[in-house]
Amino acid sequence: MSESKNNTVLVTGGAGYIGAHACKALQQVGYVPVTFDNLSTGHAEAVKFGPLFKGDLTDRSSIDAAFQEHRPHAVLHFAALSQVGESVTDPGRYWRENVGGALNLIEATVAAGVMNFVFSSTCATYGDQDGVVLTEDTDQRPMNAYGGSKLAIEQMLADFVPKGLEAVIFRYFNVAGADPDADVGEDHDPETHLIPLVIDAIAGRRGPLTIFGTDYDTPDGTCIRDYVHVSDLADAHVKGLEWLTAGKGSRTFCLGTGTGFSVREVIDAAKAVTNAEVPHSEGARRAGDAARLVCGSERAKTELGWTPTRSDMVTMLRDAHRWHEKGSF
Ligand code: UFG
Repeated sequence: MSESKNNTVLVTGGAGYIGAHACKALQQVGYVPVTFDNLSTGHAEAVKFGPLFKGDLTDRSSIDAAFQEHRPHAVLHFAALSQVGESVTDPGRYWRENVGGALNLIEATVAAGVMNFVFSSTCATYGDQDGVVLTEDTDQRPMNAYGGSKLAIEQMLADFVPKGLEAVIFRYFNVAGADPDADVGEDHDPETHLIPLVIDAIAGRRGPLTIFGTDYDTPDGTCIRDYVHVSDLADAHVKGLEWLTAGKGSRTFCLGTGTGFSVREVIDAAKAVTNAEVPHSEGARRAGDAARLVCGSERAKTELGWTPTRSDMVTMLRDAHRWHEKGSF
């Protein structure tokens, strides 16, 4: 990137799991990622690759102040509440903070004359469509306020296209792994995701893993998911940004690998990678879990030129394990 270009990008949620990995990827190719984060779930120590602007998306004036101070040429919007279960018990919070926050951000972005926007959406917008390989054209029928809030933001972005905004929307599948150098990694509280819980169970940092349901209509009875390495996802964001700055316009991409792993397969792989037993028991199904969520990511590969290079299960587990053994940012 030439020195004369504006290489500053605003990264909301840059102190969070995926946002921090994206900041590293952006910095590595010459951008200055400015993290905008309220640090409610993110970590100040994870902001290592550019400045931190502490602000809240529900406060429009703090977003305007960030634009004023840093003058970014693009926005990558990761910040969101992202727990499916919590969104069922407290849907209002998801609509207020995710959708209300995104509206403030989009309006501030357009008001600042910034027209390139990359948005983190989710396969939770599809709901439960067992057996279908999900693509960008699959109907979206969210089953909870988390998925509903993300779908609403997708629709909101489309309404701002006539105002000149261009958006790349990424629908993530199951994000896993950690930065290969363990500079940043996954640190949720509470932790609900399978892979960090498996790793913690091995290390004895918490109790045995419970497999949520063994009677699904899948080959081994446990749920199947499409896991993608967080650093591959970060690379996709750099490509999404380049897509927009090249003037290619608004587009939606699913990001997964097309390969599903069952819960038992993840446990077996973790045992092989760490050479240790995974203490676990078999329990009841978790409400809201689909049996199988797998993504077709042909569009991201052919149009964006995105090639996941680390999203095999062994690499994801190895990188996650290295990060959790390190234990801090
Ligand atoms: N699982 C267990 N035991 C656990 C935790 C998880 O068996 O202790 C199982 C789940 O039932 C599921 C699989 O492991 O079958 C993966 O569960 P995760 O919680 O890691 O991930 P989810 O598939 O539930 O959630 C992911 C993202 C969400 C997104 C959702 C969309 O983390 O942000 O996909 O379906 F909304």
